[in-house]
Amino acid sequence: MERLEETAARRASAREVARRLSHRVLVSGSLCAALGDESFAVENPADMGVVGHAPRCRGPDVERAVKAAHQAFPSWSKVPALARGRLIARAADLIEAQADAMAAVLSLETGNAYSTQARPELNQTLDMLRLFAGVAGELKGHTVPWNPDALHYTTREPLGVVAAIIPWNAPVYLMAAKVGPALVAGNTLVMKTAEQAPLAVLACAEIMQEVLPPGVFNVISGYGEECGKPLAEHPLVRKVTFTGSCPVGKIITGYVAPKLCPVTLELGGKSPNVVMADADLALAVPGVVQGMRFTRQGQSCTAGSRVFLHESIYDEVIAAVVERVQRLRLGDPLDAQTEVGTIISQEQFDRVQSYVDMAKAAPGVRILCGGGRPADPAVRKGLFFSPTLIGGIANDSKVCQDEIFGPVANVLAFRDFDAMMAQANDVEYGLAAAIWTRDLSRAMEFADRVQAGFVQVNQYDAPKAGVSYGGLKMSGVGKECTLESMIEHFTAGKTVIINRGTPAA
Ligand code: NAI
Ligand code: MG
Repeated sequence: MERLEETAARRASAREVARRLSHRVLVSGSLCAALGDESFAVENPADMGVVGHAPRCRGPDVERAVKAAHQAFPSWSKVPALARGRLIARAADLIEAQADAMAAVLSLETGNAYSTQARPELNQTLDMLRLFAGVAGELKGHTVPWNPDALHYTTREPLGVVAAIIPWNAPVYLMAAKVGPALVAGNTLVMKTAEQAPLAVLACAEIMQEVLPPGVFNVISGYGEECGKPLAEHPLVRKVTFTGSCPVGKIITGYVAPKLCPVTLELGGKSPNVVMADADLALAVPGVVQGMRFTRQGQSCTAGSRVFLHESIYDEVIAAVVERVQRLRLGDPLDAQTEVGTIISQEQFDRVQSYVDMAKAAPGVRILCGGGRPADPAVRKGLFFSPTLIGGIANDSKVCQDEIFGPVANVLAFRDFDAMMAQANDVEYGLAAAIWTRDLSRAMEFADRVQAGFVQVNQYDAPKAGVSYGGLKMSGVGKECTLESMIEHFTAGKTVIINRGTPAA
């Protein structure tokens, strides 16, 4: 009973926040109505109910937000870096005080389970903001011993107005991964939220306004072409940072090319998770499940969605993984006991189902578990999808090559290490990779040879604050989450050479 009441209270509080933030953007330090009067509904994918509405911003709203950021830039960029860091740290404290409520909003609009995903995401958000707050004093250049008669040094300066375009899968964490470095480095920012999940980001941004000067961090909502495009193209925007799909990453690069504006892209993945014959299966079995991010319905760019199992342990690992996966509790995302929530939208659900159906139609393929909607009538209303493992599919099939972005892992057996390596690298993506083995030499060889930006041995953790994260190949351009990434991607270098001249007589 207590649990039911707790869930109901969580839902009521999230609904209230969603109602209050409906039809609002955040410009010049406060929530306000958009200039345009169009909006779209924000749905709770666990029951398909509408929880709020978000403005469908176009050019004029982009213009207003960019102007606000542009006006705020001169004074914000002159705030000493340590003081900017202190403000971001203070903003993190304020979010922390309301983290439960923010996580409930996040869970309500995304269908991510409160306990396993939404609430931990708030902690990772705080870590991210605090990381950048703490390294604010490290925004420094170099002195170069170039010529004894000259002082040669470099500085790092903010770029100006940054545009951030984010997706729906971990929106609050990704907000922090962009706002933290951009603001600490002295830039101002306009963020376009994802149409599926605009509210929790707006709620956290509103909290941050208590300490940030007006216009430093602005948030608008809208569709990609109508809102994201004019934002990226805006002449006053001097940097675009994007997380999302590979096709859109390419399009955005095209938008900014004419103005030679730097762009950071965190795109998709189709990452190999390799279990060797000598692996410690007590680690590797939960590692395969965790790697696939089933507790966020596989909606993670890092997901280990191609599981390579050595043939000698294939049957044993499959049996143990299937057993574990089937024990995962699907249910009301806001219920603290739920481990797995829902797919974000009907569109994504249909996309995931279409890939599974494609696999079912391929010869020799076996659905090892899952495959569609769960049978349990308690979870038939929302966009629930049973965690799915597909066996016997070819690495060169579409199912094995495309990012499905749902709870669907492909399992491939291998005998020969070199042949496995060739397959592991035979995708357009290069984001994450992992290997489970007790053989250090093999592990190091794998790390050398695998084409991925984020490689792990005997673990498959999520990216986090302080760990350099970013992809190779079509998985993106640039790194995030560290001091070095802040300096590299959110500042511009300037070289100064001061010649001694002739001393005065
Ligand atoms: P998307 O890449 O279309 O959307 C991400 C963000 O980009 C959203 O804010 C969207 O409004 C914006 N956007 C879309 N088109 C744009 C344009 N022309 N100009 C400027 N901004 C634009 O991703 P979507 O449609 O939500 O998901 C489709 C697939 O993308 C997923 O199935 C998954 O494979 C991949 N994806 C990957 C993510 C990652 O973290 N790597 C996150 C979200 C999606
Ligand atoms: Mg899209």
